[in-house]
Amino acid sequence: MSDRITFTMIKPDAVADGHIGAILGKIAEAGFKIKALKLTQLTNADAKKFYDVHAERPFYGELVDFMSSGPIVAAILEKDNAVADFRTLIGATNPAEAAEGTIRKMFARSLGENAVHGSDSDENALLEARFHFAGRELF
Ligand code: RTP
Ligand code: MG
Repeated sequence: MSDRITFTMIKPDAVADGHIGAILGKIAEAGFKIKALKLTQLTNADAKKFYDVHAERPFYGELVDFMSSGPIVAAILEKDNAVADFRTLIGATNPAEAAEGTIRKMFARSLGENAVHGSDSDENALLEARFHFAGRELF
């Protein structure tokens, strides 16, 4: 299954702005099958660990604070070519540069508060999925 899954979070901005339903709708419309799904909140320590790869970047502290600031929706999604196709669906990191019709273009507030996360490789998708979900939560 490893090249068929990706991991996503609907970030605190999009949850607070009431976009959970619309974003899940776009994901389903694009042909992704939901394998796992939950509303949860990251602790500061969880967010630090999840974004450890960005620890040296200037925006790390802001990113960790934001990602632990409110509830998120975490999900494992399945589709052929899941990682690349999902990143196409969400659009560029900065919503100002995201293509028309992408999730970030439609729902993100800003570069920092950009509505959704999408894994950047098959390897990271599996690591991220395992970080958030126990085996019995995966269907
Ligand atoms: P993500 O991991 O959330 O799917 O986003 P991404 O791959 O498109 O972007 P990445 O480079 O991995 O950055 C992770 C998240 O950090 C925030 N960010 N803030 N203020 C800034 O300059 C800045 N740059 C990145 C964004 O929320 C980005 O999604
Ligand atoms: Mg990334």
